[in-house]
Amino acid sequence: MFAEAAANCDVTPTALTFLRDKARLKPDQKVLVIGASGAVGLAAVQIAKTFGAEVTGVCSGANSELVSANGADAVIDYIRGDFTRNGLTYDVIFDAVGKRTFRECKGSLSGSGVYLSTVPSLSILFAVLLSSFSRGRKAKFATAGLMQNKANLHDIIGLYNAGKLRANIDREYTLEQIPDDAHAYVDTERKRGDVVIAF
Ligand SMILES: NC(=O)c1ccc[n+]([C@@H]2O[C@H](COP(=O)([O-])OP(=O)(O)OC[C@H]3O[C@@H](n4cnc5c(N)ncnc54)[C@H](OP(=O)(O)O)[C@@H]3O)[C@@H](O)[C@H]2O)c1
Repeated sequence: MFAEAAANCDVTPTALTFLRDKARLKPDQKVLVIGASGAVGLAAVQIAKTFGAEVTGVCSGANSELVSANGADAVIDYIRGDFTRNGLTYDVIFDAVGKRTFRECKGSLSGSGVYLSTVPSLSILFAVLLSSFSRGRKAKFATAGLMQNKANLHDIIGLYNAGKLRANIDREYTLEQIPDDAHAYVDTERKRGDVVIAF
């Protein structure tokens, strides 16, 4: 119970802030989540579904079942195929792991589509600045983790109690395991959902 609450306290409000406040997600819009099997990604897939969006997740084939089980309507295995070359467009591309740039994704965005990245970089900062002066497709970044408030947590608790959100806990570690084991695992960039510290 506490582990599930911890798992929902950071990445779920992050996904909510990006999709609701930055992308202004609407029902039936098409959303692509890059890194859909990670902690932010799995939260984003679920949050986007609560808005009535059509969600495609991008992850490796090994994680496609997990992403589908969290509500994704479609999954693209990035090792076998590149979504930027499949001719499809999305209203929102949420790069939860900062692996693709706005420039790479621009052709896969609808006319007024929004690209979001959780990972700060010069590339995203320039893209945010330049796209803010032009019409059409936009790039957006937020320090969503630092922008949380009680109302967001209340909304998330409501969704969780209604069975519309679940926690995806990959591994639990003890306090003593933080420096070596927990960090080493997170640094692999292969975790499936959250890592939680239990004490
Ligand atoms: N801006 C903010 O407010 C904010 C808030 C929270 C977190 N963050 C940042 O968000 C980032 C993501 O955090 P996280 O904890 O969600 O990451 P994570 O859980 O460590 O992401 C791991 C997942 O990424 C997938 N992945 C790795 N390379 C990929 C690629 N090239 N394409 C698609 N998927 C790929 C892996 O799936 P496969 O094994 O299938 O490849 C794995 O399941 C971090 O950099 C974190 O610092 C930012």
